[in-house]
Amino acid sequence: MGLLDNKVCVVTGGAGSLGLASAGLFVREGARVMLVDLKDDDLARAKSALGSPHVETCAADVRNADAVKNYIDRTVQTFGKIDVLFSNAGNQGPVTPVTEYPEDSFDAVIAVHVRGAFLACKYGLPQMNDGGSIIITSSVVGAMGGPGSVAYVAAKHAQVGIMRTVAKEAARRGIRVNTLHPGPIDNEFQAKIDAGIGKLAGGVDGRKLLDSAIPLGRHARPEEIAGSALYLASGLSNFVTGSMVMADGGLRG
Ligand SMILES: NC(=O)c1ccc[n+]([C@@H]2O[C@H](COP(=O)([O-])OP(=O)(O)OC[C@H]3O[C@@H](n4cnc5c(N)ncnc54)[C@H](O)[C@@H]3O)[C@@H](O)[C@H]2O)c1
Repeated sequence: MGLLDNKVCVVTGGAGSLGLASAGLFVREGARVMLVDLKDDDLARAKSALGSPHVETCAADVRNADAVKNYIDRTVQTFGKIDVLFSNAGNQGPVTPVTEYPEDSFDAVIAVHVRGAFLACKYGLPQMNDGGSIIITSSVVGAMGGPGSVAYVAAKHAQVGIMRTVAKEAARRGIRVNTLHPGPIDNEFQAKIDAGIGKLAGGVDGRKLLDSAIPLGRHARPEEIAGSALYLASGLSNFVTGSMVMADGGLRG
């Protein structure tokens, strides 16, 4: 018996580090999974890495309403109604002070995280089974400031507003909505941020700087954050909604 037996899960950013680790765990727990990401070839690699007949893929840009409707429709046609909607796709801008932060980068970061999560909820909810779970990947900096990352920090806070609103609206159907707040993860996405933080701090090792601020003393493995996603996806969190679930090694405190 798996924690997600017969559940249908959508994972955006599904070809990336956390999306793929989570999809793998979901499948091992009995789910059927639709991986959504920008490029077909990345999705094909991700599907083959998972090596499961219970995984399908759909290329979509999460900022685009028609593309979002399409990934939702494709999921329902392929597997039936959706139980778990994991809005996880993300991008990042430069690490630079607000006075130098490019306006187009600001818009680009807000679009993926905020509009992407909004559209996922808007078009996903009507196609979800009652009792389902929506998870939005925010960040530890969705709950605290982060110098040099004004757009990313603003976007990750805004996702909490979406989560709190949709949690109240969807509760009557027993659908739970939560944000997941990872601290730094040991992957390429974070390596770029670490480099930017190190530069901003005057040319130090950004990774070491962050690790020294994290009580658990290290970056997370993607699989560790996927474990928290599984908790939110499954019945283990049946009475948890409207919550910010921290998985940050204690960084925010
Ligand atoms: N890496 C970290 O340390 C960290 C920490 C906290 C939160 N997060 C968040 O976790 C989530 C996953 O990030 P990750 O670490 O796996 O990085 P990643 O870059 O490996 O994965 C992100 C995925 O999102 C996809 N994506 C980007 N823009 C998209 C769009 N417009 N439409 C569809 N897909 C798009 C990318 O192609 C990529 O596959 C993101 O929301 C990120 O902000 C990451």
